[in-house]
Amino acid sequence: MEYCIPGLETERLLLRPFEKSDLNDFFDCCKNPHLGDNAGWMPHRTIEESEAILNEVFIGQPGMWAIVSLEDNRLIGSIGLIKDPLRNYHSSKMMGYWLHEDYWGRGLISEAVEAVLYFGFEQLELNLITINCYPHNARSLRVIERFGFTYEGTLHQADELYDGRVLDLQCFFLTRKEYFERQGLCAD
Ligand SMILES: CC(C)(COP(=O)(O)OP(=O)(O)OC[C@H]1O[C@@H](n2cnc3c(N)ncnc32)[C@H](O)[C@@H]1OP(=O)(O)O)[C@@H](O)C(=O)NCCC(=O)NCCS
Repeated sequence: MEYCIPGLETERLLLRPFEKSDLNDFFDCCKNPHLGDNAGWMPHRTIEESEAILNEVFIGQPGMWAIVSLEDNRLIGSIGLIKDPLRNYHSSKMMGYWLHEDYWGRGLISEAVEAVLYFGFEQLELNLITINCYPHNARSLRVIERFGFTYEGTLHQADELYDGRVLDLQCFFLTRKEYFERQGLCAD
C-alpha cells in the first residue's frame, strides 16, 4: 500500500512534498558532482534535465520529502523512505538522502533522519528500515552508524555509475525492535 507523506517539522527543517517551484533550488543542489558521486546518480547538466527528474522522480512520489531550511526557506535536500528493491514487502522500506553541499557539516541530515525514522516506525509501523552506502562515503557512513544501523554485508560490484566506475554497496538495516530499544521503549 502506498502512503501520502505528511509535513514533518524539526528544529531547523521542514520536510514536505516536492513542488514545481523547487526547480531552481533543486538544480542548484543536483548539479554538484559531490552529491551524485556519493548517492549514485549523474550530476544534472541543465535546468531542463533537473525539471524532468523533479517531475518524474520527486513530485508526487510517495515517501519522498523535500528538505527545506527554516532559516532561509530554501529547498536544501531530500530524504525518502522508498521500496527496497531487495525486500519487496510493505513493512520494509529503504531510506535515502542528500543535502546541498553548502549545508553539510551542521548535523542537519541527522534531524531529518530522526524525524523520518520516527515517522516510519511510529506512524507507518514498519518492521525494518534499510540503507545502502558506497564504501567511500564516510559522511553518510557516520550518519548510519550514529542511528544504530547494523551492517549486514556488501553487495559487490553493485552499481555502475555514469562515468563507468563500478562500486560496491554496503548494506545496513535497523529493525523496529532495535529502534524502540534505543529510545528506551517497547516495540509493541
Ligand atoms: C550524506 C550527507 C547527507 C551527510 O550530511 P552532513 O551534513 O555532512 O552530515 P553531518 O553534518 O551530520 O555529518 C556527518 C558526519 O560526518 C563527519 N564528517 C565531516 N566531514 C567528514 C569527512 N570529510 N570525512 C568523514 N566524516 C566527516 C561529521 O563529523 C559527522 O559525524 P559526527 O556527527 O560524528 O560529528 C551529505 O554529505 C550528502 O548529501 N552527501 C551526498 C549524497 C549522499 O552521500 N547521500 C547518501 C547516500 S548513502
